Amino acid sequence: MTDKLIIFDTTLRDGEQSPGASMTKDEKLRIARQLERLRVDVIEAGFAASSNGDFECVKSIAEVIKDSTICSLARANDRDISRAAEALKPANSGRLHLFLATSPLHMEKKLRMTPDQVFEQARLSVRFARNLMADIEFSPEDGYRSDPDFLCRVLEAVISEGATTINVPDTVGYAIPELYGNFIKNLRERIPNSDKAIWSVHCHNDLGMAVANSLAGVKIGGARQVECTINGLGERAGNCSLEEVVMAVKTRKDYFGLELGIDTHHILAASRMVSQTTGFVVQPNKAVVGANAFAHASGIHQDGVLKARDTYEIMRAEDVGWTANKIVLGKLSGRNAFKQRLLELGVAMESEADINNAFARFKDLADRKSEIFDEDILALVSDDGAAH
Ligand code: KIV
Ligand code: ZN
Repeated sequence: MTDKLIIFDTTLRDGEQSPGASMTKDEKLRIARQLERLRVDVIEAGFAASSNGDFECVKSIAEVIKDSTICSLARANDRDISRAAEALKPANSGRLHLFLATSPLHMEKKLRMTPDQVFEQARLSVRFARNLMADIEFSPEDGYRSDPDFLCRVLEAVISEGATTINVPDTVGYAIPELYGNFIKNLRERIPNSDKAIWSVHCHNDLGMAVANSLAGVKIGGARQVECTINGLGERAGNCSLEEVVMAVKTRKDYFGLELGIDTHHILAASRMVSQTTGFVVQPNKAVVGANAFAHASGIHQDGVLKARDTYEIMRAEDVGWTANKIVLGKLSGRNAFKQRLLELGVAMESEADINNAFARFKDLADRKSEIFDEDILALVSDDGAAH
């Protein structure tokens, strides 16, 4: 089994399905360029058959982006597949992503098809797609709530027809990490030709477990592709967040033992671009890209990171695009953090007594003001006649 984890970004397709997140062609192109800078392996650029606009988006991205594989979603029917293949023609490397629901609920209530009909359609659609393109991904929609026996039958057949990636969606975010990991492991063990395809995870965040489920799919299930979005953008509670899953695999390489092609230095810029484009604000305490992700406010933590950053930081802010970590001066800050800030501001205090004096006044101010800015400190010490 390969030790490379493929990062498949679907911000421009599943992310855009988030109510209020629709993007123009220019906006999508800008984000696609940023995803290429990030060295995302596969960019799902849209759902070409869903509208003329989406067709044009997929086509333009396929024309411009040359380092990532460009993918279009398609329902498992000849019209959708032909349209997607047409949009992907300019791509250096293109992928067709076919999906068809396999859970009893979706087959009966949504598709109004019998399992045998779904089986046949899945098989024939992959056969059709394979005549147009070599790189074919198949997703049994609502796969995690499907009957494993039926799923094995469908997936074995689509692999025989030439599907090169099998993606197992937890479409409604119902999975639990250990169960989802074992679900994929079980499918891979039971399907005789399972090693002919790369296995992929696609998790939604309805119970806040999309990242944990994806990682379990990788670790327990042996998946080697993760489908994710920038900032976890996506329908309802969103999709697995790219920045979190990537930094988990990178930071805990000791546990996952996997290689990534991602250049993590572009993560923050990608997050800000997607946030500004969609108007979806990133919460301050969001892992990796939130404003507080590398900020320290308590005196004990500030003292710790000033002595050695890894006391309270498990990854480096600079590795994901921040210029540095952040010491937020406030009422919880200690003398060491205050003294360090004076040095950074070029304020030279003659004696320890002067520093103690200024620190006492700083604490007094901090009791009245939630965050102390550099200007506050400069004003506070200017009366002391301190040299700048
Ligand atoms: O969540 C889902 O099931 C999907 C599929 C189309 C892959 O987005
Ligand atoms: Zn999805």
